[in-house]
Amino acid sequence: MRYLRGVHPLGVLQLILALVLPMPIVATAEPSPARQSELRNLLKNDCGACHGLTLQGGMGPALLPESLAGKPDELLVMTILEGRKGTAMPPWQPFMNREEVVWLIGMLRKH
Ligand code: HEC
Repeated sequence: MRYLRGVHPLGVLQLILALVLPMPIVATAEPSPARQSELRNLLKNDCGACHGLTLQGGMGPALLPESLAGKPDELLVMTILEGRKGTAMPPWQPFMNREEVVWLIGMLRKH
């Protein structure tokens, strides 16, 4: 055990990080099938309450492919995650993460 005495605890931490960090993060670009159906329900029930059951618009604007065409993904992602201050559009950050929002927008675009 003598040889360990000279090793600074941070050195050990660095070693662990060096071993762990290069591992690819298991990036699932798409939500799981179960989560996809949850998101679809949310879209219909929650988003639909304002954007219309068929997303043709209501209190909020239509979310149909033709209505979203020309609007940059990033604008829509931020709108959904953070809501729009001063409007009825609430932030959805507590309920879905960025990847899920990106998936949702992809779905809206080819609805
Ligand atoms: C309480 C009502 C309400 C709910 C619920 C709601 N929205 Fe909205 N949303 C709005 C309103 C109002 C606007 C328009 C804001 C403005 O005037 O810029 C909007 C804007 C948006 C926009 C931007 C559209 C554009 O053309 O720029 C997107 C995308 C959007 N909502 C998606 C969603 C999604 C997805 C959900 C469900 C997860 C949702 N909204 C739930 C009211 C709502």
